[in-house]
Amino acid sequence: MRKVSVMCSKGGTGKSTTAVNVAAGLAKNGKRVLLIDCDAQGNTTAHLGAESVPGLFEVLRGDLTWKQAKQSIRENLDVISSNLALSAIPVFLLQQKNPVNVLKRKLESVTDYDFVILDCAPNFSTLHSNILLYADEAWIPVSMEYFALLGVAQLVNEIATIAEELETRVEIRHVIPTFFDGRNRKTAQIMTMLQEQFADRLTTPIRIDVKLSEAPGVSQSIFEYSPRSRGAEDYARLLEEVHHVAS
Ligand SMILES: Nc1ncnc2c1ncn2[C@@H]1O[C@H](COP(=O)(O)OP(=O)(O)OP(=O)(O)O)[C@@H](O)[C@H]1O
Ligand SMILES: [Mg+2]
Repeated sequence: MRKVSVMCSKGGTGKSTTAVNVAAGLAKNGKRVLLIDCDAQGNTTAHLGAESVPGLFEVLRGDLTWKQAKQSIRENLDVISSNLALSAIPVFLLQQKNPVNVLKRKLESVTDYDFVILDCAPNFSTLHSNILLYADEAWIPVSMEYFALLGVAQLVNEIATIAEELETRVEIRHVIPTFFDGRNRKTAQIMTMLQEQFADRLTTPIRIDVKLSEAPGVSQSIFEYSPRSRGAEDYARLLEEVHHVAS
């Protein structure tokens, strides 16, 4: 079972779009997937039409088990959703005996999936530390903006610090260029910098495609909404690349 956190400390870099479409694509290909929305914005929850309650809030507080909270929303695909209540969780976690270990304990009996995919909020918080302690892999979507590069650098530092302090195993497995526009000079410059830093961990890019931003409006993945779109093509290629890495 691969435990994947989709994260970047810059907002709007395609984290939720990537988490949802990768999860949906893996499920479509027969993998069993648990998708967990860890962002109080609830974008991942809404994208595929899951109910926003119950969700991760109840699980972390111990009101429900993850099994009671999960919703089956497609064949092979379960979701643990999120809503605004989750914004109170970092403070709740801080009051616990071992504040960074709560998520790991609550998800201890999650074993029956091929992938657990956690969609993260862009901010650092106690919940973020919990996710880093639980996950084995971090996938970082990075948009073709200089501030997104900064966000990646901050995340790399945070992961290194946390790995040392908490003895985590989480490693940056994939850096995923998003909002790619091959005709744009800034895109080319940012790709060069990413290649220098991440080499073979850099995946082929996800191009800008308006269909990707339309799909949540009809509660569908890109493979359901527009299977022949550029977005579907790019995420299908990403699925192959992430599969190539041994679990
Ligand atoms: N490749 C793309 N082409 C066009 N639009 C995209 C693409 N990827 C994502 N979008 C759209 O851009 C917006 C931001 O994407 P998304 O919500 O996935 O980012 P995020 O990193 O999860 O944001 P946040 O930091 O707020 O959680 C959304 O409206 C989404 O539909
Ligand atoms: Mg998001």
